[in-house]
Amino acid sequence: MIQAPKGTFDVLPDDAERRSHLEAQARKVLGAAGYGRIETPSYEATELFARGVGEATDIVQKEMFTFDDGGGRSLTLRPEGTAPVCRAYVEHGMHKLPQPVKLWYMSSFFRAEAPQRGRYRQFWQVGAEALGAEGPETDAELIVLLAELLEAMAVKGLRLRIASLGQPETRANYRRELTAHLRSNEHRLSPDVRARLDINPMRAFDATDSSTREVMREAPKLLDRLAPEDAEHFSAVRELLDGAGLRYELDPTLVRGLDYYTRTLFEFSSEALGAQSGVGGGGRYDRLVEQLGGQRTPGCGWAAGVERILIAGAQQPVAPDPVDLFVALARRDSASATVAFELAREARRAGLAAQLDLAGRSLKGQLKQADRLGARYVAIVQEDGDASLKDMASGEQSELGLAAVIPTILRGSRL
Ligand code: HAM
Repeated sequence: MIQAPKGTFDVLPDDAERRSHLEAQARKVLGAAGYGRIETPSYEATELFARGVGEATDIVQKEMFTFDDGGGRSLTLRPEGTAPVCRAYVEHGMHKLPQPVKLWYMSSFFRAEAPQRGRYRQFWQVGAEALGAEGPETDAELIVLLAELLEAMAVKGLRLRIASLGQPETRANYRRELTAHLRSNEHRLSPDVRARLDINPMRAFDATDSSTREVMREAPKLLDRLAPEDAEHFSAVRELLDGAGLRYELDPTLVRGLDYYTRTLFEFSSEALGAQSGVGGGGRYDRLVEQLGGQRTPGCGWAAGVERILIAGAQQPVAPDPVDLFVALARRDSASATVAFELAREARRAGLAAQLDLAGRSLKGQLKQADRLGARYVAIVQEDGDASLKDMASGEQSELGLAAVIPTILRGSRL
């Protein structure tokens, strides 16, 4: 038997209902704040992600599904949505629109990661991006909107961490300072941290052994090295979050796997998720549009994993779609089948949810199926082409004639 590829999954009807619910909530929360929907293609020029996400990131180094378009051009299934949205902003001259341009999406993304619970190779994100505004209100508003969406989805055990990265130059200086600190304490570091010292000194903050942790407690913190205007921006974001009553932790060691961030950085995680605890995160990316060939345009946004929201959110039972009318056949002949077919079609055109028996069941089987579906009425097409109507709640049946079936249901009158 052929199975779905590793790390992918099918969305079956019950699950599709939960996703539709999430999509409706996102539309409500983000639409109310002026965000318009955008969808970009499933694949882009590989260069977009190499330049946008960053050559040195795990995503670009190891996780992209890249292929040749047959004409020698390299394409990649999108691993994330921010670079594509910025590409679209530049391509459609959106800088000419009133700023900021506020966009949201709910789309599938692709990363060649080792699959586990909450981590897939094709997954969905709901995301929001605001381009063309640099004030701290944009950052704070985006964080509040994500908090509202997660709350609307009843995501349990939430924790919000925030930090600021400042500018790339600040970061480069800081990295040198941190590496020097690690070097001068090399003998106290775990072999693991020592081996990665030059590749990723920030990782040392995640170490669990006591000796390395002690070295890290004495280590310089990026938050203490921010340029004055970046520090001011960050404290304004925090004040707005405080004013909104949103609880957060300052985490100077917060790192995210994308290179485009400047200034504000944030991440929501959930205890309900286990190892892959990141529900959604984002930050400011004031240089990305320019890096992709546009004018200098500040940007800020986030993305949250749809599957992770659904795993960590309340598992409300999904109510099946209501069925107003089930059309049954007293006898299976082609004349009755045509009448039944037409009746179901007319009912749907009149705005009713109507189903037809498509499985060749006996009349008894059809009534049982109508009951299973929770149908309000069953029309039974008789041998003479006329119809009777059965009210499934009261059990009453009336020989009211074919023409009266739809008007009776529309009136909602009991038989
Ligand atoms: P990200 O943190 O890489 O950020 O992904 C955002 C969310 O997508 C994660 O928190 C997680 O819930 C979900 N996610 C990521 N990878 C997987 C996976 N393999 N399987 C299931 N879920 C996954 C971004 O993608 C940035 N574009 C966010 C952003 C928008 N920053 C600014 N604007």
